[in-house]
Amino acid sequence: MKKGKKLYEGKAKIIYATNEKNFVIQHFKDDATAFNNKKRAKIDGKGILNNRISEHILKNLGQVGIKNHLVKRINMREQLIKSVEIVPIEFIVRNIATGSLTNRLGIEDGTVLENPLIEYCYKNDELGDPLVSKEHIFTFNWATKKEIEKIDKYLHRINDFMIGMFRGIGIKLVDFKVEFGRHKSGNKNEIILADEISPDTCRLWDINSEKKLDKDRFRKNLGNVMQAYQDVARRLGILHEESNIRTVKFPKPKAVKIKKNK
Ligand code: TMP
Ligand code: ASP
Repeated sequence: MKKGKKLYEGKAKIIYATNEKNFVIQHFKDDATAFNNKKRAKIDGKGILNNRISEHILKNLGQVGIKNHLVKRINMREQLIKSVEIVPIEFIVRNIATGSLTNRLGIEDGTVLENPLIEYCYKNDELGDPLVSKEHIFTFNWATKKEIEKIDKYLHRINDFMIGMFRGIGIKLVDFKVEFGRHKSGNKNEIILADEISPDTCRLWDINSEKKLDKDRFRKNLGNVMQAYQDVARRLGILHEESNIRTVKFPKPKAVKIKKNK
């Protein structure tokens, strides 16, 4: 597949055309932004890690039946994906209250929610991605009832899967944001998971220390942003560094009695 012209440049990614209409290339940049583009920086290597982390998570989600846009990673910063028409909603799932939820409603930071909370935000930078209700989504035809029903089901399954995956590597999945799109397959449109899932789009806390391992390190000037992203990648088993290679000790073989053939 050949890389074509730039179709769209977002804050952290670029989308390029390919010579096949139904496929595009997603390029991960090192740019980090927060507070609706008011705070900006370049974090060397972030795009490479997010490309790997998102590939890993979407591949695993695909294996448990969550249809998504990933076809394959093609190099350090790029992946081949199915082209979609993005649903203009940011879907947020929260397990622990923090961030804008605590600011908006005065809920104590760190409150564990009895059930996952789904929030919908209208994807519009000029308006600062405002929180909207399902009624807004239907009134303005941003998505159909059927699409939202399907997406809500997907959101719970994605959350369940990711809670387990991160718990297994000593990380609490606090909350995350995902996006969905409509992919043309034959003459029907299919809703699939799109965009990316990475420490840019999730809040991840170490289970024991509650140390933040995500973009909040950048948003809140906590430092060591790359180290935190690397830690996530290393724990997921996709970053192989020398420090990660442990010598495996094999147990001494037990003496085995060999019966002689009489
Ligand atoms: P919030 O608490 O700031 O609303 O963020 C909720 C989750 O959504 C958190 O995991 C960070 C993620 N997020 C994005 O991925 N992009 C955004 O533009 C914002 C505001 C949040
Ligand atoms: N990505 C968003 C922005 O720049 C905000 C965020 O992730 O906090 O504007």
